[in-house]
Amino acid sequence: MTGSTWARPTGIAFGGDYNPEQWPRETWREDVALMREAGVTLVSVGIFAWAMLEPAEGEYDFEWLDELLDLLHAHGIAVDLATPTASPPAWFFATYPESRVVTRDGTIMGFGSRGMASHSSPAYRAAAAGIADALASRYAHHPAVVLWHVHNEYGVPVGEDYSPAAVAAFRAWLQERYGSLDALNAAWGTAFWGQRYGQWEHVGAPAVAPSVVNPAQRLDFARFTDHQLLECYKAERDAIRRHASQPVTTNFMANASLTTDLFAWGREVDVVSNDHYLTAADPEGHIGLALAADLTRSVGHGRPWILMEHSTSAVNWQPRNVAKRPGEMARNSLAHVARGADAVLYFQWRASRSGAEKFHSAMLPHAGTTSRVWREVVELGERLEELADVRGSRVQADVAILWDTESFWAQDLEWRPTVDHAHAERVRAYYERLWRDGITVDFAHPGQDLSGYKLVVAPALYLLRASDAERLTAYVEAGGTLLVSYFSGIVDEHDAVHPGGFGAPLRRVLGLWVEEFCPLRDGESTRLGWELGEPGSLEADVWQEHVVLDGAVPVARFETGPAAGGPAVTRHATGTGTGWYVATRLDVAGLAPVLREVYADAGIALAGHAEDLEVVTRRGEDADYVLAINHGAVDTELDAVGEDLALRTEVGPPVRVPAGSVVALRVDRARRGGETASVAGSSRHR
Ligand code: GLA
Repeated sequence: MTGSTWARPTGIAFGGDYNPEQWPRETWREDVALMREAGVTLVSVGIFAWAMLEPAEGEYDFEWLDELLDLLHAHGIAVDLATPTASPPAWFFATYPESRVVTRDGTIMGFGSRGMASHSSPAYRAAAAGIADALASRYAHHPAVVLWHVHNEYGVPVGEDYSPAAVAAFRAWLQERYGSLDALNAAWGTAFWGQRYGQWEHVGAPAVAPSVVNPAQRLDFARFTDHQLLECYKAERDAIRRHASQPVTTNFMANASLTTDLFAWGREVDVVSNDHYLTAADPEGHIGLALAADLTRSVGHGRPWILMEHSTSAVNWQPRNVAKRPGEMARNSLAHVARGADAVLYFQWRASRSGAEKFHSAMLPHAGTTSRVWREVVELGERLEELADVRGSRVQADVAILWDTESFWAQDLEWRPTVDHAHAERVRAYYERLWRDGITVDFAHPGQDLSGYKLVVAPALYLLRASDAERLTAYVEAGGTLLVSYFSGIVDEHDAVHPGGFGAPLRRVLGLWVEEFCPLRDGESTRLGWELGEPGSLEADVWQEHVVLDGAVPVARFETGPAAGGPAVTRHATGTGTGWYVATRLDVAGLAPVLREVYADAGIALAGHAEDLEVVTRRGEDADYVLAINHGAVDTELDAVGEDLALRTEVGPPVRVPAGSVVALRVDRARRGGETASVAGSSRHR
């Protein structure tokens, strides 16, 4: 029996990775005292402790962990107990040298880092299941343990592996998938460049070759890699479940790593957890944070989730590790809560003196408790106590952005029409437009039921299964609004071009198809004539194409460039819904007039508050919780009324949100006549 969520601690959990094996016993005692001072309620333990727990094969040393768990429990701190399988000990590699990872160019990975083992190695799999089993059998009933944390960030640093074990497993996986060599040859299109296979033994992994390797083979290798990682996770999870009933999770990296297909993984964990780090080079990293948080919630189908790791200040692994400014940590942490996190955890509790991560920030920095970071950690701990009732409430969205990892794997392969088109850039641009318009979004897989959404946006859907295209068409014909960006609906699941012209599977819903791509030169831009009033003309770059209309109406035309005179943005009314298409790259500002029209078709109102004010509502059983985060440098107001959870008093309308601060409101639905919207949306738009 497994629980779907952790039973303790109650409220929003607060804490982080705790690596006491790096410290003497007196530091442990200081740690638990300081954890209490900071309001820490949950720590992740043992993530990299394999060498300490199993110092030699089959010889376990659990005494230190017994003592630690007892100490934490005595201080009321709950434990998320990890399996240490992301970093096997030195003895493992000495005994099983064939378990080392081989890169695509044939390099055998060495020891002295982490994540060095092949996920296809039978010896690694046996050892990982063994330590997971031993831990679970010993600690299944320990009162401190409330959650199990399997491995660490599957797919990073080891994703694809080209070791002999992996190649053999890939061949077996292909035999299972295709049944016959004929089917494999057909799926991979091996008639091209004379790649036809006559024997299974000749089929291998797509290692580095003189020229571009078969893209269907590479796409299958990405699927296989994901499958191997998931098998490893499931084996450990099942070993834990044989003994323990606490929920099991593994920490995802949302959009930061595409090695795993998280919509599938979301079904295998009892609770979704995620690690997120700001991109220091992005001055508006909080928008990327919101995107990652919304994606995390979505892969768990809206269930509350655990923010397993983020940072109190700078990380140490980016080119320039920018420290967070005063107040930024709280804005970041509470933005995750606003978007569905029920736990706020960091990497890590105490900064390490040695090793590769000594310059990474921590809850307890090298500067100790006389530091800004520590003071802000203590303040946030208090703040989270005020938000205890938010736990369990859910975010609801009217808009979904389509996210298909397989499609991204395929699109990222070589020899595409232009190197300037990147799916991540398009997803971010459309997401950012919606964020700036104050509209909360989910992410959705194109194969899932979309009927609950007023608007579905597809910024990058290069690979599109015919069955998913049918589903999108039915969604629109039944009244939905769909917005598709260029280079979508191009290939099937084998990276083979759909017959009938580019975008053929979307022809019915969009009322068009594409005759030829016309990518632009580096730095070249193009102008569109916008036919629906202001702004009259728009700039775009990277992409043009020859769009052939089949029912759609152009609302913008290319004025310059290779497709001059042709449609650039189109609208197609079909059934009781509408299909929109954008045939070029508009920036976030350029997307504004397009989205304004699309929102009108979908019946969506702009939020109407300042653009820098991030407002998200979590819906509880009888109250809504509104979190308003002011990322700007000036005070602003929100048209809302409710109980300010910090002041414990009724505020608004309007509610003042000072520059850089976060206001959390509880809005009683009964008092508001059962309305779901606790924040008045202005109808600035038509
Ligand atoms: C990842 C890992 C952690 C740590 C942090 C540093 O998320 O899971 O062990 O290395 O990065 O940012």
